[in-house]
Amino acid sequence: MPLSFCWTTFDVTTRLPGNWQSDLAAVAAEADFRDFPRTPLLSREAEHVAHISRGRVHADQVRQGLPWLYEFYQGYFRGLAEEVCKERVVPARDDRYGLVLNVQHGTGMRFECHIDSNPLTGPLFCTDHPAGAGGELVFAHDLAAVDIDAVDRDCSVIRPQAGHLIFFDGRRHPHYARPLVSGSEARVVAVMNFYTESFPESTRPLELNRHLFGEV
Ligand SMILES: [Fe+2]
Repeated sequence: MPLSFCWTTFDVTTRLPGNWQSDLAAVAAEADFRDFPRTPLLSREAEHVAHISRGRVHADQVRQGLPWLYEFYQGYFRGLAEEVCKERVVPARDDRYGLVLNVQHGTGMRFECHIDSNPLTGPLFCTDHPAGAGGELVFAHDLAAVDIDAVDRDCSVIRPQAGHLIFFDGRRHPHYARPLVSGSEARVVAVMNFYTESFPESTRPLELNRHLFGEV
């Protein structure tokens, strides 16, 4: 099988405000922690998995609590995305899903195994997790992987490093975030959805908004 998955990393640490990590941590503490139901269409979880426990800082909270991050999403980060993509890249016009935080605490939380509906995703890792500490972002090489065991059998593993912004196209390769190994650690990532001229926001399945927000 040809290895078709790749990603690009930018170390943006020196471009971020001096207090960026403490700013992020303060907003992440307000996350909505609960069991999230599996996502329609995009989930690649085993059939018996109905919920995945994690934290989410919703887009309106991020925009209000981290205005500088929202500005980066619309401007500087969007420009970097365009360098990767070689075509016009735009942030989401719908503020409900453009920029959110995913938060994991301890060993019982992870991020759902899924594929993306948008053509370019840009997570900014906000916490460091050394080798062996868990929290890795993992991408299946097998496009048909339908659970985390199948992903883990043959995968690319990205270790979160604070201040690293990566870009990837996650529409075909199932991916998830592993749980942390330590019960006292937290993992925070700012996730940005981008769209392109060839794959615009109008392609986003309406069912996703119905599932996430209760309305289209
Ligand atoms: Fe994703």
